This record gives sequence, structure tokens and C-alpha cells, in this order.
Amino acid sequence: MLFHRGGAVFLRKKDEFIEKYYKYLQEEFDENKNIVLPKLDFIITTRCTLRCKNCSSMIPKYKEHIDLTFDDFKKDLDVILDNVLKLNLINISGGEPLLHKEIDKIIDYASQKEKTDMIKIITNGTILPNEKLLETVKKYNDKVFFFISNYGVNPDVKPKLRTEEFIKLLQENKIKYQMIKDFTWVEEKEMQKNNLQHCDAFYKSMYENCILSACLGVFNHRLHTCPKASHGEQLGIFVDKDAIDLRKDKNIKEKLIEFYSKDFYEPCRHCIRSSKEVIPAEQLI
Ligand SMILES: C[S@@+](CC[C@H](N)C(=O)[O-])C[C@H]1O[C@@H](n2cnc3c(N)ncnc32)[C@H](O)[C@@H]1O
Ligand code: SF4
Ligand code: SF4
Repeated sequence: MLFHRGGAVFLRKKDEFIEKYYKYLQEEFDENKNIVLPKLDFIITTRCTLRCKNCSSMIPKYKEHIDLTFDDFKKDLDVILDNVLKLNLINISGGEPLLHKEIDKIIDYASQKEKTDMIKIITNGTILPNEKLLETVKKYNDKVFFFISNYGVNPDVKPKLRTEEFIKLLQENKIKYQMIKDFTWVEEKEMQKNNLQHCDAFYKSMYENCILSACLGVFNHRLHTCPKASHGEQLGIFVDKDAIDLRKDKNIKEKLIEFYSKDFYEPCRHCIRSSKEVIPAEQLI
């Protein structure tokens, strides 16, 4: 099933499947107050091998870098899973997640969990996975796959990419991967320290039309509306009063229900969206 196991859904049945799936989510919630989280980004490091001008995670803004420890990853994931019925997709992201020394342990732990369906390692393709990571991903081949961001369309970055070697390695190890041919980016503007003073209807509409809003962000035991919000708070641009603190907050399930009932979130008040297409991974000098 498309969301459930990561397998294929015949295209002509896709809409029907999605409709049924959303009905199932709604029923689970209405009847049992069970929450199924569709997608969540775990930020495991802020370190990166590139400095992209329009990075939606604002990574070049970090002066000091943070690596999530394996123990902290375990604690954060456990709290989330204890309070939901399912977590359809975990994105392991960053920064560049392949720079994290314990990424194999992180993948191993997340893959063992019954409640997780799919785990996607998002990488820029500049470094190759080491033997330990390859072995771990092979072990959970039905759940874990790589997403290689296709920055080959940018001639300035191309010399830094090891995409061909990467793909060869994955094919040799029969590991699944995804790379989108026509990979596009939108311009990312800096988040603002002060609220932007628009009316609530403006933020509601911006949130509803925001592509990043489909994916929650978790960083350093705080769950936010999107990964950009996680980085905005971590960079000290604002305090996200709508975030759920996975260590301090009690009744996480109730908090999640309350979280999902909001029309938009505090970070949206600090955010400027753009629909202008830009070349992927343009580098800062
Ligand atoms: C923040 S990156 C982290 C993972 C890794 N460093 C990479 O670049 O693939 C996560 C994903 O966000 C995408 N992304 C970053 N900035 C973007 C933008 N301005 N527009 C569209 N996608 C963007 C990246 O291409 C990547 O697929
Ligand atoms: S988008 Fe660029 S700067 Fe941002 S994390 Fe990925 S490779 Fe690094
Ligand atoms: S803060 Fe709100 S508007 Fe900005 S990227 Fe996140 S969800 Fe979208």
C-alpha cells in the first residue's frame, strides 16, 4: 500500500486509495482518538557538505553545529510512537545526515519499530554511505530507502557530487532509492525575528498553501509544524510557543490532538513564502 508499506498502488486506483486512506485516518481519530502521523522529519545533524543559498533548513546560518545523540533520538522517537497508532514516514534529514557518525544505529532502531512504515534517508549525494550503514539498510530493505536530491542539474555543484558511484553502490547492494529527474527548488526567504503583523486569515491561507506544512519537524526533543520551524527556533529567531516539548510536556497525545486542530502556527508568523523557482543548491560564496 502506498502509505502503509511503501509498495506500489496502481496509478488508476491511486485517487480511490488515497480517499479510502484518509477516511480510515478520520475514522480512527473520530472513533478511537488514534493518531496516524503521515510524515515527520528527524533532524539528526546541522552539519553539511554544502552551503545552499536557498536551503529551506537555513543550514548555512548555523555558527555552531549540533548532532543529535543516538540516545536522544531513541528517547524522542519512543515518546512519539508511544502516543500514536502509526508513523507512516520518517525522513532522516539534516544538514547532511550521512555526516552523522551513528546514523546506522539510528536507522536500525527506527526500523525495528512496528509502528514505523517507511524510513527515507535524504542525502545531497556528496558522500557515500559507509559499510555499516549499507548493511543496516539492507537488513530493513522493505522499509528503508535513500532519497538522493538531484543537484546534478546545477553545473556549479556537479563536481562535488558522487551520485553515480552512490547509485552503483546501492544497486550492487539491492538497496532502494529515489531520485527525481526534474528536481526543482523554490526561493527561500529568511525567517524574521519579529512577527510580520499580518491578520490571522493571511497566515491561515499561507499555511494551507505551504508545501513544507505536510511534514512535521523534530529537533532536539521539540516537535514543530515543519522542519523550517525547527531550525528557526534552534537558530534563536523565535520561540515556537506552539511546539510540543517531548521531554517536558505531559499528555503528549492530547497535545498532538490540540496541535492538529490549529489553523496555523507561531513560526508561520515569522515566515515569508515564495513561489519563485530557483536553481537547486545554488551555493553561497
Ligand atoms: C534540507 S535538505 C537536508 C538533506 C540533504 N542535505 C539534502 O540536501 O538532500 C532536505 C530536502 O529539502 C530540499 N530543499 C532544501 N531547500 C529547498 C528549497 N529551497 N526548495 C525545495 N526543496 C528544498 C532538499 O533538496 C532536500 O531534498
Ligand atoms: S539543502 Fe543544501 S545546505 Fe541545506 S542541508 Fe541540504 S545540502 Fe545542506
Ligand atoms: S513556518 Fe508555516 S508557513 Fe513557514 S514553512 Fe513552516 S508551515 Fe510553512
